[in-house]
Order: sequence, then C-alpha cells, then structure tokens
Amino acid sequence: MTDKKFFLLSGERNTLPQAELRAIVETYDNKANFKVVDKRVIIVEGRFDLNTVLKRSAYVSAGAYLISHCKLKDAEKTINAINFDEFMSDHVSFSASVFNLSDTHISGKMEAIIGSAVKRKLPNAKVSLKDPETMIIGIIFGDDLLLGFTDYKNRKKGWRLRRPRARPFFHPSALYPKFARGLVNLSHVKEGELLLDPFCGTGSILIEASLIGINTIGIDIFMKMCRGAINNLKHYMLDSLGILNSDALVLPIKKVNGIATDLPYGRCASSRGINTLNLLQDFLLEANSIIPKGRYCVFVHPSTIRLNDLDTFELKGMHEVYVHRNLTRIITVLRKI
Ligand SMILES: C[S@@+](CC[C@H](N)C(=O)[O-])C[C@H]1O[C@@H](n2cnc3c(N)ncnc32)[C@H](O)[C@@H]1O
Repeated sequence: MTDKKFFLLSGERNTLPQAELRAIVETYDNKANFKVVDKRVIIVEGRFDLNTVLKRSAYVSAGAYLISHCKLKDAEKTINAINFDEFMSDHVSFSASVFNLSDTHISGKMEAIIGSAVKRKLPNAKVSLKDPETMIIGIIFGDDLLLGFTDYKNRKKGWRLRRPRARPFFHPSALYPKFARGLVNLSHVKEGELLLDPFCGTGSILIEASLIGINTIGIDIFMKMCRGAINNLKHYMLDSLGILNSDALVLPIKKVNGIATDLPYGRCASSRGINTLNLLQDFLLEANSIIPKGRYCVFVHPSTIRLNDLDTFELKGMHEVYVHRNLTRIITVLRKI
C-alpha cells in the first residue's frame, strides 16, 4: 500500500482545517511529510492509518490513498493507464466521486471516465453509489487532478445530533461538536490516552474525545455544570474517568497526556470574577505540572488576551476563529518543552 495519501480540507476560511490535519497525522507519525498543493488540498507521506484520520477529523472533507497526480489535460490518458486491479478485486462494488475546486464543470465527465476505465480493467466490478466497497476519489484544483482510492465509509459524523440544543443539559457557553472535535485533535492525544478538560462546562470536549476512544477527565467549579456534563455524556452512552467538582487552579490530578479546554470569559461562562488573563496564567502553571514534555495544551480564549512569557511551553500555533461581530476567539496550541 502506498504511503502517500491526499486530503481535501473543508472550506472554513481560517487556519484550523490545516492545523487539525497536521495534528492528527503527527499524533501517529511525527515524521510525516506534508505537501500543500492547494489551500484545501494536502498530500501527506507517512506511516499512519488513513481511516483513523478520516474518522477523527472535523475539518477533512475527503481523503484517499494517492494513485496519481496529473495535469487535467492528461486526465483521460492517465485514468485509462491505471491498473485498478492493484488495489481493487474483480468483483468489487465501487463508486467514483470527483470534487471540483476549479470553475470548470467537468466533475460528471471525469466520474464517467473513471467508471468506464474501471469496468474495462475489471469487467465484474459493479457501480454502487449507496454502499461501495471501494471509492475512487478525484480532486480537481487549478490545472491538476489528484486520483486516489479509499474504503472509508462512515462519512456522517452526527454533528447535528450532538449540537448544544440537542443535549439534555444546555448552557449558552456550550461549544459546537465540530469545533470541540477540532480542539481534541489539536491536543495530539491518542485512543487509550488521557485528556483533561479543566473547564469542562457541559462536556462538549469530553464527548468528542470519548467518541474517538480517548479517556477523559473533566473539571468544573460549579456542581450544576458537572452534573450536566455527566448527563450529556450518558445521553450518548459515553463515560468519563471522572467529572470533578473542583478548581482548575488547584488541579487534583498528577499526570495527563494532553489538555484541551475553553476558558471561562464574558457573561456566559462565569470566571468567578477573575480576569481571564490572570486565570490563564495561573492555569498554565498548573498545566505545566501535569503535562509531560513534548505533550500539548490547547485552549480557546478571547482575542483580547495576549500571552507573555512561556518559559516551559513552546507556542505551536494560534488560530483565529470568528464567532460573531463582537467576538473572535483564538485557539492557542502549546507544547511542553
Ligand atoms: C467557557 S465554559 C466551558 C464550556 C464548555 N467547553 C462547553 O462546551 O460546555 C467555562 C467553564 O469553566 C468553569 N469555571 C470557571 N472557573 C473555573 C475554575 N476556576 N475551575 C474550574 N472550572 C471553572 C465555568 O463554570 C464554565 O462551565
């Protein structure tokens, strides 16, 4: 199997989709090579499982093992020369999906060319749009075409079913599941490892982490929020190692593999009268004592806050996310030195 995969990122106009993909890949292979061929298209060479990335990600729209990268004008010749039998069996059911980022209207034509080429090489292969065993994925960008294949099926992530209003316990500070999943992924924590959300509120981050098999601990200073988070997790048949009614500035935990959190600020999420910058600085001192070297602390904060000295952490990224006219949030990603 080829070590080269390509990914189509979702169309959000910020740095988050690319950062999320890099973080997920690095979680499993920190030597992987990234080649950005378009602002939404990245080719990655490395030893990691394609389906794990597709399953975990919030901001990846499609991904596949790379078969070929060619100029659009050579597409037909290239497609007809592909040995589909190298990665598909003769009786396979398949579909072809071409994503078009250019202004030309050729997705349908390209899908038909792929379909005919497969049938010519594998006469017993059947087209199945509903439940194909193999999907041939094409991405058209500029003058280029990328072609690949995947057997990944579970494309629906159920974001709507987990939106704040769909959960039994609602609070206006609750994060949307897609955004919460992005934070989990930026934390570089793997399945079976332990992630802490020290300001867990309604549990949005804990839910998304649990869904991908990460162990979680949540902390909130208000008992009502702790109970709410427990109920929300239960609603999705998920569990946490603990939801602790405690102060994040005096952490009752010795070691975690990463932190992802959304700091209290504004009217919605009480910060108990403490200014968010002071709270963040005190919190980072605590975080420093429980995160091992090389691991990550990811947090969301208002854009008005600027971090000063970070002696024990290295700044790995800052991603600006527009919420509404008066609110832009920053996701800061730190790595312990
Ligand atoms: C922005 S909200 C978190 C929202 C959460 N991410 C969600 O999706 O529901 C911040 C939370 O921090 C809690 N909090 C405030 N000060 C705290 C402290 N010192 N220790 C722990 N939790 C605190 C608040 O009760 C609030 O639930």
